[in-house]
Amino acid sequence: IAAEGAVYYLFGATGDLARRKLFPALFSLYKEGKLAENFAVVGLARRPRTNEQFRADVHESIGEFCRYKADDAALWERFAEHFVYMSLDINNVDGFRELAALSKGLDEKFNIPGNRLFYLALAPNLFGPVSFNLRDGGLLESPGWNRLVIEKPFGYDLESARELNQQLSQVFEESEIYRIDHYLGKEMVQNIQVLRFSNAFFEPLWNNKHIANVQISLSETVGVEERGGYYDKSGALRDMVQNHMMQMLAMIAMEPPSRLHAEDLRDEKVKALRSLRPFDSAAEVNQHVIRGQYSEGANNDKPLSGYRQEDSVNPESTTETYFAARVYLDNFRWAGVPFYIRTGKRLPVKTTEVVIEFKNVPDNMLFAQRHDLAPNLLVIRVNPMEGIYIKINAKKPGVDNVVQPVSMEFCQSCMIGINTPEAYERLIYDAARGESTYFTRWDEVAEAWSFVDRIASAWREDSSTLQLYPAGSWGPASVDALLAADGFHWWPVN
Ligand code: BG6
Repeated sequence: IAAEGAVYYLFGATGDLARRKLFPALFSLYKEGKLAENFAVVGLARRPRTNEQFRADVHESIGEFCRYKADDAALWERFAEHFVYMSLDINNVDGFRELAALSKGLDEKFNIPGNRLFYLALAPNLFGPVSFNLRDGGLLESPGWNRLVIEKPFGYDLESARELNQQLSQVFEESEIYRIDHYLGKEMVQNIQVLRFSNAFFEPLWNNKHIANVQISLSETVGVEERGGYYDKSGALRDMVQNHMMQMLAMIAMEPPSRLHAEDLRDEKVKALRSLRPFDSAAEVNQHVIRGQYSEGANNDKPLSGYRQEDSVNPESTTETYFAARVYLDNFRWAGVPFYIRTGKRLPVKTTEVVIEFKNVPDNMLFAQRHDLAPNLLVIRVNPMEGIYIKINAKKPGVDNVVQPVSMEFCQSCMIGINTPEAYERLIYDAARGESTYFTRWDEVAEAWSFVDRIASAWREDSSTLQLYPAGSWGPASVDALLAADGFHWWPVN
């Protein structure tokens, strides 16, 4: 079903996100008929660019990054016609007035009922000023709806996030604000609730009586690339944990929502985040959290430089590029079950996986007494492969009394013909339809910050806890001890 007609305003249209994700997402939506003909896209950035140049940028980006190719010339022409560019100084309200006039023309030309979606692919300190100028420049006065889509990071800590939210809420209602966490747009992250709540295999076991621990791993091979300036102030805690890791954890841990409405699901996620046991002291943080930073190393014999040697990074930086922690949720369902979360840059492989490790069968059972049984696992593969597999124990064929672990695999991404939409595609489509389930609500963001802030503040007090790991390795050696202390180990990721 096509989304309602709207003008899409892409702030930061000459940036990396637009090129890699947003243009390709819009093209895929168009190609699939999810964008009807009554839409327009206005590219906005400071740099002067003609409409033709802008369309050429879009074409190039699709050629490089889109799952569909723009090789049907007629289709491309029809699509490109909807794209215009305007150079804009976002601190000057006059430009916004001009934009309002341009918008009226686009509404008429493409028969758009005044719906406006403002996508800010900008640094967060600009979210407030842009919102005020949208209002003061008259862009919010059209007869249709207005929606604001913003990228992370939402603040630097709870306090700055509150200030930012306070600014936005002077202009937009909470229901008009769509905070992107692109992990929530991923097929398998959305699938978590389906797997959990529609399978008699899993649902009754999803608690501390049957689950021994949960492991969420998000490893990347890349370093900080050209983002040293941003990353050095942010680090893995703010860049990945506060948002993506906390969101995945909430999806795994939340109670079933009473209805499948955005607000019900988000209420449950907030409750899960609120039940995270806060770290009360620096000593507790040290006991449960590991921070690492990559030093020189290699991956597949390719030499890799250390983090401190990267562009725009302070040569004495103590910013973490690796994070691992043991966290607990103090509620009925999860009491006593450790959740281990880890993420890092310059690790050996790019992968995101959730492993649910089940408790063993009672050890007075015949088999358990005789054999060292491996625990049952449910593994949810988020990326790059998408799918699930379960590990169970079975008799080794032809050999009496030998039990071996076997796995059953559902590889969604291996299936021929499956070409799952990119996270950004789903999220833009959802925002255009007013579907906010997979966007983070303010109270979720606030809960995640208040948990993360305690860790950041312990680290500020004592930077000596930073551990170096060679680029291309699995992180500081102490991450194994974190689990070993509880009698567990990390399950290797695939
Ligand atoms: C972004 C982070 O939010 O997520 C990046 O800012 C990180 O540092 C990226 O590389 C990972 O996303 P994905 O979809 O490639 O796993």
